[in-house]
Amino acid sequence: MCGIIGINSNKPVSSTIVNSLKKLEYRGYDSAGIATLSSGLINEVKSEGRVDNLEKNSLVQNMEGTIGIGHVRWATHGSPNSINAHPHSSQNVSVVHNGIIENSTLLKKFLVNKGHKFKSQTDTEVIVHLISEHLKTDNIVNSIKKTLKSLHGSFALGIIFKDQPDLIVGARRGSPLAVGYGPNENYLGSDSYALKSMTNKITYLNDGEFCIIKKDHVEFFNEDGIKINKKVLELSSTEEKYDKGDYKHFMAKEIEEQPITLKNGINEYVDKSNNDINIYNFPWKINEISSLTLIGCGTAYHSCLMAKYWLEELTSLDVSVDIASEFRYRKNRFKKDSLYVFVSQSGETADTYAALDLCKQNNMKTCAVVNVIESSIARDSEFVLPIHCGTEIGVASTKAFLGQILILYILSLKIGLWRKDINKETFSKKLKDLKELPKMVEKTLLTDNKIQSISGTFNEAKGSMFLGRGFSYPIALEGALKLKELSYVHAEGYPAGEMKHGPLALIEEGMPVVVLAPRDNYYKKTISNMQEVIARGAKVLLITNKSKDEIVSENIWEKIEVESTNADLLPFLLTIPLQKLAYYSALKKGYDIDKPRNLAKSVTVE
Ligand code: M6R
Repeated sequence: MCGIIGINSNKPVSSTIVNSLKKLEYRGYDSAGIATLSSGLINEVKSEGRVDNLEKNSLVQNMEGTIGIGHVRWATHGSPNSINAHPHSSQNVSVVHNGIIENSTLLKKFLVNKGHKFKSQTDTEVIVHLISEHLKTDNIVNSIKKTLKSLHGSFALGIIFKDQPDLIVGARRGSPLAVGYGPNENYLGSDSYALKSMTNKITYLNDGEFCIIKKDHVEFFNEDGIKINKKVLELSSTEEKYDKGDYKHFMAKEIEEQPITLKNGINEYVDKSNNDINIYNFPWKINEISSLTLIGCGTAYHSCLMAKYWLEELTSLDVSVDIASEFRYRKNRFKKDSLYVFVSQSGETADTYAALDLCKQNNMKTCAVVNVIESSIARDSEFVLPIHCGTEIGVASTKAFLGQILILYILSLKIGLWRKDINKETFSKKLKDLKELPKMVEKTLLTDNKIQSISGTFNEAKGSMFLGRGFSYPIALEGALKLKELSYVHAEGYPAGEMKHGPLALIEEGMPVVVLAPRDNYYKKTISNMQEVIARGAKVLLITNKSKDEIVSENIWEKIEVESTNADLLPFLLTIPLQKLAYYSALKKGYDIDKPRNLAKSVTVE
């Protein structure tokens, strides 16, 4: 993953680089580093852990130089320590890198034979030495061009040179990179978000391109080193404020913000006066589409799975769902009448982007459901449905999940109506319920104390299971993912009906099992599956919706009842207690809730 920043200015740059790195920490927080040029030398300071550690380092506080590069790392090659932290430098070149160099072992062998000495275990260091090697005989443009041609894999790079005190080089293949323009200074950044406090004038590099950033202008080159012209985009200049308010963690705030996420989404897409859904500028005729494939990773994949259930219920389309890292390397049968939907909060996830790219190469119809509308996936998809949940800071996705499934539900309803798979009456009834959803979520958010008190049981157990059928199955997967991600305890999501085919063997006395059994068509079946785990000693936390009918079951350990609404919408409500369960479990353990170990918010490596 990793985040890159570069500034070429006529003022000292180190503190601005450090502040920008803080904004990039969502890309990685294993280590951070900075390099500047001053008095004809490359100065480099790196530290393990968060950007805060780097900032506290007195060497950074006294760092001089009006040109510099910085980096936050998510380790791929080599453990997360200060030696492997970026920048990596030789005597005359310093490099920051996001991505993976797949042929680094071969290149290293070649360079060692030429007498180059390596200090770290990273793949990045080969780039430093390759450039240094080429610079012995070539100018900058040729050295960069030749270096990039010999690299296999993905990269975004920021490079400074001891003997070129007036420029930064940026280069991109696979990993995103943006150039920003300021008054008498110019910038390089992994995304426009990191640059937003400095400028709203941006150029995105395309794959294969590189650039030379000077204080007063920027030159762009294609992969053959030929100069090219690029457009400057003007982004909205309003910068969102990010603070936790009275909350202890961003995650807690983001969970509570979910009614607003839903209201925003509903206001954007639901035409309340005409009792309709507006999907403006939908670029295809509905009869051109007979199947739909949804693709995403992690939580976004769970959103895709959720959408499959709704689309199958509300439309007669053929629907399939894929994990992006699997889809991108499988032998896919691309169908002309298929719409490919890419779901991503960040819009930068490398696997999801690669899947999109593959579909584009095969001339498929592509639609993105994203939160960050300036992201690569949004920019490169034919059609975009924004989530409108505002910036999500917590690594564990919460409000973006609800935002994604809301948009996918709205899309399912509209497609159902367009294709006449549902009639106007059913559509109107479902729309009426949807408008009430934010209030239902608000009420469900009030269920808190019980979850806090039972969360410890999940931490103490060897593992736990999350079971659901039908609409509740994707939510069971999401609940288990949240718990693993935040509390580092083993948790498995399973279709409740599958337990008897193997996983039932895991159940032993006292094992916590969450059973999602809302009063929908699957209710009775799920309750039977619940009995099967109770009979084998499981401690069942049943999550259902409020109802007049008593649950005919004994020996349930705990029960949580969410609000009642139509069956389509219950997944939104069931999600809330699961998010809180994961939050409180991690809180009890004293873990870093907003930045869980080994993870990053935006996964820009494959
Ligand atoms: O930005 P994306 O939605 O594409 O990210 C996909 C996953 O990396 C992400 O949902 C991840 O699983 C979350 N950390 C889960 O909470």
